[in-house]
Amino acid sequence: MNEAALQLTALTRSFQQGDVTIEVLRGVDFRLEKGEIVALLGPSGSGKSTLLQAAGLLEGGFGGAIAIDGKAAVHMSDRERTALRRDKLGFVYQFHHLLPDFSAEENVVLPQLVHGTARAAAETRARDLLTVLGLSARLHHRPAQLSGGEQQRVAVARALANKPVLVLADEPTGNLDEDTAARVLEEFLTLVRSQGSAALIATHNRALAAKMDRVVRLDHGKLVAG
Ligand SMILES: Nc1ncnc2c1ncn2[C@@H]1O[C@H](COP(=O)(O)OP(=O)(O)OP(=O)(O)O)[C@@H](O)[C@H]1O
Ligand SMILES: [Mg+2]
Repeated sequence: MNEAALQLTALTRSFQQGDVTIEVLRGVDFRLEKGEIVALLGPSGSGKSTLLQAAGLLEGGFGGAIAIDGKAAVHMSDRERTALRRDKLGFVYQFHHLLPDFSAEENVVLPQLVHGTARAAAETRARDLLTVLGLSARLHHRPAQLSGGEQQRVAVARALANKPVLVLADEPTGNLDEDTAARVLEEFLTLVRSQGSAALIATHNRALAAKMDRVVRLDHGKLVAG
């Protein structure tokens, strides 16, 4: 059978706050096919970031099962988990989390070097991606010397640099004005499609969600069709 890019089975997550237990995810079942782009909607506090952190193997404390490209995460060692994140996943956050002391180009080169790509090839790939994203004249700028939209474009290039099977994005354009958000998302989706990655993208924006293949929504801890 064709492996899903991401499979969540009966995923649960609760947080203990003093005597109160908040059940954020109450049994999420979700299958994301290879190459599929899905929007994740839900009101503030519904658990979108919690779900993406689980899917990205960024935090423990979950019940249920997570598999990425057919590999079950539950029994992995920290080392295996790190390798899987490095080789199969790309992240875009609401705030870019770029390395402040490195140029735009270096921010896109570094994850490729960690992945094992030779420097020359990594630099070519970084420049190609940044050029597609309209940043050919900004390669040597550090993040602080870039606008918010430009920083998010660099973050997009970084997430896609290793051609991951799965891209996870948490409100990747949430900090941008409406027009810039639409443009950056358009470029993001075009790149994701052209390289065949799957993507799960949390957003509050239904117009942006409508550009994706499918919409799902978190509703009282369950994932339902958009
Ligand atoms: N580390 C934590 N400890 C306690 N509660 C937490 C923790 N992280 C998240 N929560 C709670 O879990 C719920 C879901 O949070 P989450 O950040 O996943 O929501 P979200 O859907 O991403 O919201 P937003 O749209 O505002 O980003 C919230 O009620 C939040 O208070
Ligand atoms: Mg969130």
